[in-house]
Amino acid sequence: MAYNYMTADEAARFVKNGYNIGFSGFTVSGAPKLVPTAIAKLAEEEHAKGNEFRVNVFTGASTGDALDGALARANAINFRTPYQSNKDLRAGINSQDIQYADAHLSHLAQDIRYGFYGKMNVAIIEAADVSDNGEIVLTSGVGIVATVARLAEYIIIELNSNHPKELRGIHDIYEPADPPCRRELPIYSVRDRAGVDVLKVEPKKIVAIVKSDVKNGTSPFSPSDETTMRIGQNVADFLARELKRGIIPASFLPIQSGVGNVANAVLGSLGANKDVPPFTMYTEVIQDSVISLMKEGRVTFASGCSLTVTDPVLEDIYGNLDFFKERLVLRPSEMSNHPEIVRRLGLLTINTALEADIFGNVNSTHVLGTKMMNGIGGAGDFTRNAYISIYTCPSTQKDGKISPIVPMVSHIDQSEHSVKVLVTEYGVADLRAKSPIQRAETIIENCVHPDYKELMWDYLKLAKKSHTPHTLPHALGMHVEFAKSGDMRNTNWGEY
Ligand code: COA
Repeated sequence: MAYNYMTADEAARFVKNGYNIGFSGFTVSGAPKLVPTAIAKLAEEEHAKGNEFRVNVFTGASTGDALDGALARANAINFRTPYQSNKDLRAGINSQDIQYADAHLSHLAQDIRYGFYGKMNVAIIEAADVSDNGEIVLTSGVGIVATVARLAEYIIIELNSNHPKELRGIHDIYEPADPPCRRELPIYSVRDRAGVDVLKVEPKKIVAIVKSDVKNGTSPFSPSDETTMRIGQNVADFLARELKRGIIPASFLPIQSGVGNVANAVLGSLGANKDVPPFTMYTEVIQDSVISLMKEGRVTFASGCSLTVTDPVLEDIYGNLDFFKERLVLRPSEMSNHPEIVRRLGLLTINTALEADIFGNVNSTHVLGTKMMNGIGGAGDFTRNAYISIYTCPSTQKDGKISPIVPMVSHIDQSEHSVKVLVTEYGVADLRAKSPIQRAETIIENCVHPDYKELMWDYLKLAKKSHTPHTLPHALGMHVEFAKSGDMRNTNWGEY
């Protein structure tokens, strides 16, 4: 079939006010870049004419500034799900200009199929190649594309020349059947494949192809500081101990690790720890550190939803595709994060908290209980179903004025029932097989910063003796103190 090649501005005209748009990709990786910016421009033109123009944006996870940033700045987003990390979009969400539904990443594709979000009007897909019969080779990220491409009325493709068509073979595109017909998902080891290596669509739905040469431009991590390195070391030492005492099988278990500096430091420490055998990963985002460890033979295989690596590392992968295609697979987020697979494979999961309480409840989304940071991402998919779920955070934030460990979290993303281990730079609190009071004692003893320890012990003394000892008038006292004086260390329990 002969496709219509056109500019991004021309392709954007297929998008109408109120449309549900499904985008490919996961992080900036695999997300289209030119067409979303052109939609933002179109929205501004329509607003200047006094017309309403806002769309509903569905993605795998966060995207790049050319998508979330451009659309948010143009006031072109009405509704957004399931995860974001762009500062302009975040501002729109917190001012209630943009309606944001923070959803588990493994849920979104199926929730769209179940009809919870209405009809999908357009799918906009970044591709490395597209054949006449509608076979699309995706790029460095997958997300929810299989579902939105199948359900959308129209498809717009951004054909990006930075991604070689020889990428074909790295993806495993699979959509589970919906209940009551769903069978078990046929992934029994990180290397297994359930689907096919291309996204197959009806060619007649492809209304536009836009050529692009825009790179991902993924930001590099800041170098690890002493705190992140100590957290990484504590996690690696803990896992090595669990292996030695036979809790983790001798062949080790696949690792899932969240994004960011701590995750990078943890992987670095695990890679360097010779008590840990070469290991595999079943994770969401594959970062630079995984690729280095793969080259050193410390990571033998990684399954993920995206290669969220810096441009030089992506070029290195593309330059050595024979090596990496044997060691990497990219899946839809529904599969990379699926609870059934997470539990079957027995993942060791490591994610980051904004705050945790002394009983093990975790808040990773709401700053001081109300302001959305990014979203829950895949953390719930993994934490609830892990073999051992680990949460990390530094023992203080904002030059010591905030203790991320508090008597009661101001918002709950992962509950005490799911979080098995908490780690700060001071140490490890193993919460398994412990009652709430035992968990509180081990967290205060091992993880809380010395400046806050007495405050926490005093809280427990004040709390009414009960299964989960709390004193409700004081439970959020540290947050209230921060709002009042800007420093949680000034908390005086007598005042509340
Ligand atoms: N109260 C108030 N502010 C806090 C805070 C707290 N308890 N904890 C952190 N902050 C502030 C930090 O000071 C920092 O502020 P700044 O941007 O002004 O410097 C900001 O929040 C981010 O903190 P930082 O320590 O740099 O966070 P991070 O980059 O390690 O990210 C999360 C931490 C929780 C935001 C991030 O991991 C996330 O979005 N997680 C949810 C999704 C997830 O877990 N994904 C992986 C699953 S696969």
